Amino acid sequence: MSRVAYVNGRYVPHAQALVHVEDRGYQFADGVYEVLYLHRGRLIDSDLHLDRLDRSLAELRIPAPIGRAVLLAVVAETVARNRLADGLVYLQVTRGVARREHAFPPPGTRPSLVITLRRTPAFPADLAGWTIAAITRPDDRWARCDIKSVSLLPNVLAKQAARDAGAGEAILFDRDGMVTEGASTSVWIVDSAGNLLTRPLGGAILPGCTRAALIAEMAAAGIAFQERAFSVRDLRLAREVFVTSATSFVKPVVAMDGQAIGDGTAGPVSARLFGLIARHIQGGSNRPDAALTLRSSRHA
Ligand code: PDD
Repeated sequence: MSRVAYVNGRYVPHAQALVHVEDRGYQFADGVYEVLYLHRGRLIDSDLHLDRLDRSLAELRIPAPIGRAVLLAVVAETVARNRLADGLVYLQVTRGVARREHAFPPPGTRPSLVITLRRTPAFPADLAGWTIAAITRPDDRWARCDIKSVSLLPNVLAKQAARDAGAGEAILFDRDGMVTEGASTSVWIVDSAGNLLTRPLGGAILPGCTRAALIAEMAAAGIAFQERAFSVRDLRLAREVFVTSATSFVKPVVAMDGQAIGDGTAGPVSARLFGLIARHIQGGSNRPDAALTLRSSRHA
């Protein structure tokens, strides 16, 4: 079956899913995006992701291309046309197509909306094979990393550096030597004293939806943690390190710059939190807002 993408109001074969060369996403990286995980036809943490999309758009003064209810209907239709049950939903909104001028195009320029899907392997049954090595890299991004912009060049270079080193993620640190986040993940540690830490929100990091979902699940389970910045040194000396994202869930980091973290295997806190996020995703959570079952006229 050929894949189908949604491009500015039309469902088109993936190979013909094109945007104009004057699209400001192409010219200026003037756009934002979201990546959502679809598990058995349920869109995980959709409210968190769509709230963040609204916020990214508002911060950049890009009008929403369509309302949320219509957007969800379009996502459902795209999912149905692809007969997808498990995978990734990619949403991208740019400021639209206009003659190349740095300043915003005339009012009324329609923002571009693209939705693509990708099939992924089944949700990991356990942590076997779900661990990675990481490297550390200076964070040379801008001061508004809280906006989920498609302008990802530093992230791309950091991720490639990780790949070149045979690692799965690059963990970034600021000029003060404090960890910000991964190239495409939020970073957590269990420090040498046993504290579970993740950096507080702010301009230096993306407010991760998986981070937020995990925090809510931990609160419900009575698991203590602190939003506190930690250094690269704390990272190296940590008992456990793991990253979170819509596509990595909870993923233990078992080596850093070639040195083992802890005993070089997934630690007990990471394992427990993987279990918590697995339940969140698989529908065992008590939190009703964890997932949205997509309804499409085609499935009815
Ligand atoms: N990345 N930090 C950065 C820089 C990210 O790009 C991401 C997500 C995260 C985690 O956010 P969330 O839990 O909402 O996925 C943190 C997505 C998956 C991507 O770019 O593919």
